[in-house]
Amino acid sequence: MVPATPGGGKRRRYHLRTVQIDLREPWRIDAVEIPTRLVLAPMAGVSVQAFRRQGRRFGAGLVCSEMVSCAGIEHRNERTLGYLRVAADEHPLAIQIFGSEPATMAEAARMVEAAGADLVDINFGCPVRKVTKTGAGATLLDDPERACRIVGAVADAVDVPVSVKMRRGLENGARTCLDVGPRLVGAGARTLTLHPRSAKQMYTGTADHSLTAELVDLVDVPVIASGDITSRARAQAVLATTGAAAVMVGRGAQGNPWALREIVDGDDTEPSREEVVAELVLFIRETVRELGERRASGFLKKFYGWYLGRGRFPRPFKQEVVTLASTEEVERRLIAAAPGSLTLIERLEEELPGGDDVLLDLPISLYGGG
Ligand SMILES: Cc1cc2nc3c(=O)[nH]c(=O)nc-3n(C[C@H](O)[C@H](O)[C@H](O)COP(=O)(O)O)c2cc1C
Repeated sequence: MVPATPGGGKRRRYHLRTVQIDLREPWRIDAVEIPTRLVLAPMAGVSVQAFRRQGRRFGAGLVCSEMVSCAGIEHRNERTLGYLRVAADEHPLAIQIFGSEPATMAEAARMVEAAGADLVDINFGCPVRKVTKTGAGATLLDDPERACRIVGAVADAVDVPVSVKMRRGLENGARTCLDVGPRLVGAGARTLTLHPRSAKQMYTGTADHSLTAELVDLVDVPVIASGDITSRARAQAVLATTGAAAVMVGRGAQGNPWALREIVDGDDTEPSREEVVAELVLFIRETVRELGERRASGFLKKFYGWYLGRGRFPRPFKQEVVTLASTEEVERRLIAAAPGSLTLIERLEEELPGGDDVLLDLPISLYGGG
């Protein structure tokens, strides 16, 4: 039996110098077993299937989709439904939904479950105006009654566990999460993820994980700590001082799956240029399969900067790649810069399940609304 909170979790804090936390220790959210204590963050415009599958390969025990609009699901918006494609090798996977109406959220959760998600995650953290002005995302932290009704309706609608991701509150210095968190658990949330910045902060300042520690003490479900975790040392410190079940990594993994390997296994070898190109080429190919060439070529540009930066390639090379018109040209240019990557790419492709195994189409009933 895998414990719900590895290392004893609640109330047992370890002295940093005496205990090495094992990031490879499995844990669980109800029946969902999570093989490592590292979770890949949901990130809009980033967490495509290629990102999630790569995250799993590099040591993330749980991966998350980007937030998916429940209104988009309700209206069977084609692009929204595309977010619900689940690959065979990305489990366990959480699909995150956002919205403000309990009934619509419940209906979206049913579709998310039918699509194959192992967890339904609810977004109470998005600070972006486009989302908050509709009464969704972080604003729900100031309307705990509605937030609880949403969690209750979603938990009633599905058999898989429901999790909630939230910020500390709306205003700087807010401690709202400590009041709302336990109420959400009472309403049916089986896990809470806390990104302890205020919505107002967006991504400025630092994540205050002393709040994460307080939240851990208040609830009897696993808590996931999100915010500013970019190294094994930081991950271990946050786990040890908060009692959280797992850490979540977002920006640190953008164009840098090797950070996940360092965090989970302590392997801090810098990737060679060949490895960087091989991972990027694979990422490009998968993303083109997922989004189509037209959408993928725009979407991928920020990834070129992320992969090729960090002193891995000279700046003019990065700038040149970003200006190329098609992903095929990008691929050719990358391989020309690191010809040894070809064998690595072949090996990676061989190890991965092939095309049709990956993009599992949704059950037809989802499109038809039946
Ligand atoms: C580009 C971007 C998009 C994000 N999109 C989402 C999202 O869709 N849902 C969500 O709950 N959090 C989202 N977040 C927040 C992250 O999941 C995470 O909590 C935050 O970035 C702090 O972690 P980090 O310091 O490891 O990046 C996003 C963050 C970034 C940078």
